[in-house]
Amino acid sequence: MKDVKKTELHLHLEGAAQPAFIRGIAAEKGVNLTGVFDEQGHYAYKDFSEFLSVYEAATSVLQTPRDYARLLQSVLEECAEQGVIYTELFVSPEFCGGGDLTAWREYLHAMSETAEAMRKQGIDSRGIVTLIRHFGADRGKKTAICAAETAGGWITGFGMGGAEAMGKATDFAWSYDAAREAGLGLTCHAGEWGGPASIRNALELGVTRIGHGVQAIDDPALVEELAERGVTLEVCPGSNVALGVYPDWPSHPIARLRDQGVKVTVSTDDPPFFHTTMSHEYDRLADVFRWGEAEFNQINQWAVDAAFCDAATKDRLR
Ligand code: ADE
Ligand code: ZN
Repeated sequence: MKDVKKTELHLHLEGAAQPAFIRGIAAEKGVNLTGVFDEQGHYAYKDFSEFLSVYEAATSVLQTPRDYARLLQSVLEECAEQGVIYTELFVSPEFCGGGDLTAWREYLHAMSETAEAMRKQGIDSRGIVTLIRHFGADRGKKTAICAAETAGGWITGFGMGGAEAMGKATDFAWSYDAAREAGLGLTCHAGEWGGPASIRNALELGVTRIGHGVQAIDDPALVEELAERGVTLEVCPGSNVALGVYPDWPSHPIARLRDQGVKVTVSTDDPPFFHTTMSHEYDRLADVFRWGEAEFNQINQWAVDAAFCDAATKDRLR
């Protein structure tokens, strides 16, 4: 469904790197990537913990602002090919300069220039600075300082990814407070691997969006609260099925959440890792849940409403 105009809110920049792109940069730099790819050349992992390790190993070949600018360009070209007109990308100062603010500014400068050039070619984007939960709260504070110091321009949001089982979302409250004071929109991965309690805890950070959030389905009171408060879920069904959060598409709760009034949106998370694309996600939703134009229009409207961008950009997207 490449022709449907799409807004994507949940895409990890490094996770969107095609294996061939990573292999190309690794060859240029002479980096050995043993264990990252399988015999077919796809990313090789068997569970979420291995996924995170392979993700970080592949990311280790990206070592300069130019590497990130090239990655962003190739990712945005693929988004445009999928009919995406606006996307928000998770980027982490941990990977772009090891959490150092001066280095982060250089990476960000290179990415912002690329984003601006691509905007002129019809694909708009924003960056969400993301702390990595399993790196701990102290490193999360450094990430939040990078976010707050560079808020505005291309960076309009703040989020948290990584291993949901490590600690609680509210362990990172200092970082979220700093990001909020800097005027950034807030989101947090929760309810992917954790249950309703993890989502409730993330809501305490004052987020307007939840990354995944699908396990809310197990708690009717929470589903009602999400619907009433208008919290938007960044749902990534193909990711959830590939990682084994749900065994197959028919058992995925996206349609049930929507039927119960929750604002769901659709994204790919880390598309080459999960052998998916935005068009593929839409095709599966059409096949499995019989979604059509009305449903796709609605999820894209909700995505625009919840996007971390200015009102004039939203008007253009509507
Ligand atoms: N980082 C990249 N993809 C992720 C996911 N699905 N969950 C948590 N952190 C991530
Ligand atoms: Zn994610």
